[in-house]
Amino acid sequence: MAFKPGKGAGPKTREDWEALFFEATQLFTPSTPIDENDLFAGRGPQIRKMMEGTLERGKHVILFGERGVGKTSLAKVFHGLFPTTLRNVFAVREQADPSDDFSTIWRKVFKDIHVQAKRNGETAHVPIADFYSDQISPDDVRRELEGTFKASDIPVLIIDEYDKIGDKQKTNELMANTIKVLSDYGVNVTIVLVGVADNINDLLGEHASIGRCVEQIPMPRMNISERKEILQRIVPRLGMKLHEDALWKIVHLSRGLPAYVHSLGLYSTESAILRRSLLISEGDVDSAMKRVLERSQESIKEEYSKAVHSNRSDNLYKQVLLACALADTDPEGRGTFAPLAVCKPLSGILDRPVKIDAFQQHLKKFITEERGNILVRRGHERAFRFRFREPMMQPFVIMQGIEQGLVDPSAIDALSFPAQPRLPNLG
Ligand SMILES: Nc1ncnc2c1ncn2[C@@H]1O[C@H](COP(=O)(O)OP(=O)(O)OP(=O)(O)O)[C@@H](O)[C@H]1O
Ligand SMILES: [Mg+2]
Repeated sequence: MAFKPGKGAGPKTREDWEALFFEATQLFTPSTPIDENDLFAGRGPQIRKMMEGTLERGKHVILFGERGVGKTSLAKVFHGLFPTTLRNVFAVREQADPSDDFSTIWRKVFKDIHVQAKRNGETAHVPIADFYSDQISPDDVRRELEGTFKASDIPVLIIDEYDKIGDKQKTNELMANTIKVLSDYGVNVTIVLVGVADNINDLLGEHASIGRCVEQIPMPRMNISERKEILQRIVPRLGMKLHEDALWKIVHLSRGLPAYVHSLGLYSTESAILRRSLLISEGDVDSAMKRVLERSQESIKEEYSKAVHSNRSDNLYKQVLLACALADTDPEGRGTFAPLAVCKPLSGILDRPVKIDAFQQHLKKFITEERGNILVRRGHERAFRFRFREPMMQPFVIMQGIEQGLVDPSAIDALSFPAQPRLPNLG
């Protein structure tokens, strides 16, 4: 009988192991959003808010957060997670790009919404876009959407990558206006704007008057149980097991960014398969870490070098940046840390007690062009918070630190994996 990953007897031949690896590449998707409900992990509170926003007439949704936290995945699957009794959801998802303005965004949407129209004397199913060769106004959008859907439909129009739009000021103004008009007229449709942003003003500009008609959904990094769930949904489907230490290592190294759970998961699985083992061990995760570092985007590698370069051998840029990557972050999952939180990991790395004065200058440099703005700073004097400008940089910095032996492996375990049950006294 042919070998099927996760079913019946385990792999025996070389082809079986190759088939298993192929299956792993289908399930671990570090570079693609999730579009299968069964592989979508966690996000209960965000799904609930999406549902509430969608079902309440006159409400629209803005989903925002750091790059790579899982916004598109949520936008892709949330309507499929509605109770089956609400299944007549009509969802359209478009992706904005820098060449887009208000009219081109709506032309994209209108290409995917069809209406009955007379063409050459015959009734045909045509996209609304066919009626617009030029500009589209908020009032056009309202009129089209008002007449198109039945009361029993749940139409959801998702505009992803909204942060990328061109002519931001004008597009934002018209989009805010459209949301307000659709809401005022109680049109049965929900617009979902999705994009990378710290807050809704970042995404849509200062259009507070639409505040009431908008459900704001901040997308946090994944918490520990959500990261575990990604692995627990995939590994058993391969008929494999993940050693508890391996699980914790992946979960903590990823720093809440699901793409790293996927890439570390995939390479760890590959490493176990190469050993012809169905049990993924901590050693497999160590090999995976090397692969992830090798295969990281050149831009990440270059930005890291730019941030830590120095002609002096006694400089502490690498150590301070590593401590920043290990620092405790805000409970809301936005990935920000206070300078004070850097003291503990840096003390561990340097093996001596460190106060803020010791690295204040480094933090200041990290937010400058000279060091590639590797960090960004928010807030005001005495309440500054920092975060990595590019979230994907943070796990990279930690893995570099481990690879470069900047810190004793046992110490990095303690710093990096405080919640690991084996290390109860180190939190
Ligand atoms: N709920 C989830 N369960 C499992 N994997 C997830 C989940 N959410 C996201 N991922 C994975 O995380 C990675 C990033 O997801 P996604 O592309 O949805 O993020 P994003 O916030 O839209 O990113 P960007 O800001 O770059 O557009 C992908 O590899 C995706 O497969
Ligand atoms: Mg996305």
